[in-house]
Parts: sequence; structure tokens; C-alpha cells
Amino acid sequence: MKGIVLAGGLGSRLHPLTKITNKHLLPIYNRPMIYYPIQTLVDAGITEILIVTGGRNAGDFLQLLGNGKAFGLKHLDYTYQEGEGGIAAALSLAEYFVDRDLVCVILGDNIYEKSVLDSVANFIQLGRGAKIHLKKVDHPQRFGVPIISGDRIVKIEEKPKQPKSEYAVTGLYMYDPTVFEIIKTLKPSGRGELEITDVNNAYIERDEMTYAIVDGWWSDAGTFDSLLRSNILVASQAESDSEEISPAALQASASILRQQ
Ligand code: DAU
Repeated sequence: MKGIVLAGGLGSRLHPLTKITNKHLLPIYNRPMIYYPIQTLVDAGITEILIVTGGRNAGDFLQLLGNGKAFGLKHLDYTYQEGEGGIAAALSLAEYFVDRDLVCVILGDNIYEKSVLDSVANFIQLGRGAKIHLKKVDHPQRFGVPIISGDRIVKIEEKPKQPKSEYAVTGLYMYDPTVFEIIKTLKPSGRGELEITDVNNAYIERDEMTYAIVDGWWSDAGTFDSLLRSNILVASQAESDSEEISPAALQASASILRQQ
């Protein structure tokens, strides 16, 4: 199983924070944002990892992460996305790296409280199709939203005005290598991007999609509010030595913010 962290895009929703740096290098409590998705893959037992980045600050990732020593890795791979063609366009750059293997893709601004080791192990055992990870949220219209019938997902709608379930499709996806054939058939969406939701809908149409519900909290960090929320959730969980942070105060904020 290969791992891909998608850290391209321009982070325009976070201007001016992202005017002179990449969104995934911004701090989440005591670490740069990209540390969290890398750690999620490593904790799931994935050691062959490709970082897809882009923009003006791509070189900073190499300086920050090197060969992945901070994560106990011997090596990290990197590739560069020109422009902002969408999540599926960024993933297509990983075809040479994944080859005929299975792949676990995580968005560079998604943070998971708990390990996804079991879900990864189950998918490796299954060995084909695709798997997504759902979480109940307060404002599903910000995300990809599944339409669920019985225990089956029948379709995913990207940022629907009237969501048909209370779930978000979170930024952790697993695919067999046919994902790259699917991406080649995609057309850009209304916002001019190759959408990961269209990839997932192709697997649903083939009846090859499975899903799991995320255990623990999950947060993306791509807007000012979700960036703050992610910081508070991570800080409340960390065993901090700082006397300036009151764990009780952080706990209280975290419980308010636990729903997105
Ligand atoms: O956070 C989960 C959501 O992420 C899903 O529910 C949505 O279905 C999915 O489309 C995505 O929505 P966003 O609008 O939040 O995606 P965003 O454009 O913020 O991109 C998320 C990450 O994907 C970003 O941190 C880096 C990577 N990315 C994105 C684009 C557009 C790339 O690597 N290249 C890109 O061109």
C-alpha cells in the first residue's frame, strides 16, 4: 500500500495567511499542518509516501520534511503540481509512484484524532475497489456529502446546498490502481477542477465502493474557522508542558468545537 499526501492548491480561502507560504506549512498547535496527515499514514503502517505539492513554496517542504526522519521514515518522495487543477488532478501525478499497488490518499489539510490502521488493514485484505471515510458534521454543505440508502452509498454530492445526509466525506480515500484510468475520463467541474467526488462516484457506479465511519474527531483546516478549530482540538489533546495553557479551558473549547 502506497501513501499520498496532497498538499498542492493555492489555499486562497486562507488569504493573507497563504500569500507568502503554503497552507500546509501553517501551524496547527505545535507542528506544521502537513505533519498530521503524514503521521496518520505512518501510524497506519504506510512507509512509502509521496508528497504532492505546488505553488511558490514547494522547496520549503523539502527543507522541512527531508527524508522523513521526524516520522521514523528512511525516505520521502515528492512531486510538483502546476496550478490548481483539483484533488483528482493532483492524485493523477502519483500514477508512476503507485504503479500496480493499492493507494491511500490523504488531503494535506485533514486531521484525524484516531489511528486509521484497522480501516487500512481491512482495505488491503479486500484488495480492490475504493473506500471512503465518513463523519457526521453540523454543516455538511461545506463538504462532499453521501446519499445513503440502507447501508449503501448511492451517490456523493460535492458541497450540495441541500445535503441529503448529515455526513461529510472526509479527506482519506483508498483506491485500487484503476483509479488512474478513472481520472483520465474526468471532465473539469463548474469550479474548473477534476473532482475527487467524481472519482468516488465512478466507483459507486461500478458497485465497488465501501466506507467506514471515522472514529474520534476529524477536522479539515482550510478555512479560518476550521483552522482555529483544528488548533484547539489538537492543543486540547496534546500533553503540553506550557503553564500558560490551561488544559481545562482547552477541553471546554474543544467540546464546543467538536462538531463541524
Ligand atoms: O476536507 C474534506 C473535503 O475536501 C471533502 O469533503 C470534499 O469532497 C473535497 O472536495 C475537499 O473539499 P475542499 O473544498 O475542502 O478541498 P480543497 O480545495 O480545500 O483541497 C483540499 C486539499 O487538497 C488541499 O489542502 C490540498 C489538496 N489539493 C487541492 C487542490 C484543489 C491539491 O493538492 N491540489 C489541488 O489542485
